Amino acid sequence: MKEQKTIQVKDKTFAISVPQDELKLQIKRIADQISHDYAGLQPIFLAVLNGSFIFAADLLREVDLPCEISFVKLASYQGTNTTGSIREIIGLNTDITGRPVIIVEDIIDTGLTMVHMLETLKGHNPASVDVCTLLLKPSKLQVELDVRYCCLEIPDDFVVGYGLDYDGFGRNTKDIYTLIQS
Ligand code: XMP
Ligand code: MG
Repeated sequence: MKEQKTIQVKDKTFAISVPQDELKLQIKRIADQISHDYAGLQPIFLAVLNGSFIFAADLLREVDLPCEISFVKLASYQGTNTTGSIREIIGLNTDITGRPVIIVEDIIDTGLTMVHMLETLKGHNPASVDVCTLLLKPSKLQVELDVRYCCLEIPDDFVVGYGLDYDGFGRNTKDIYTLIQS
């Protein structure tokens, strides 16, 4: 898709907010940090589907380390006797015992998803777990979370593009777009 100032995704209009050149620059910066921090190690990247698939592909190609990647998904289901919805990790079919793990996320909003994911992963006894996210909305964070690698901090607005979706659509753009409030 060609770069456009605004795009229509289903019934909503979005305006360009992070152009692809800026994304590339920030992803390279984070990849260099990871390559430096993990020198001598062989990390396993755990990319959280669906939103992180483009970010993970671009990040990995900038990382200069022997490494592996595996893809996981968070399935929401309603607990029988709990109030909130529980998100279970599915697709974790690689043994992460004793391995340095780097979670790759598209966006951290309240941080609740990531906290739950960190707790679950600890049960698999990895050597370490770091969080790497493309986007972070600092004003929305509800929990204390150590986000070691963050490409960009953004305001509390809904975004699409570069893997992120609105109701399943809008993932296939090279730039990131923000919802225009009407
Ligand atoms: P929490 O609040 O647990 O949620 O950090 C993170 C998840 O919420 C979704 N999310 C978004 N998805 N544009 C999106 O396409 C957004 O602006 C946005 N904000 C939150 C996303 O699925 C993420 O994994
Ligand atoms: Mg997501």
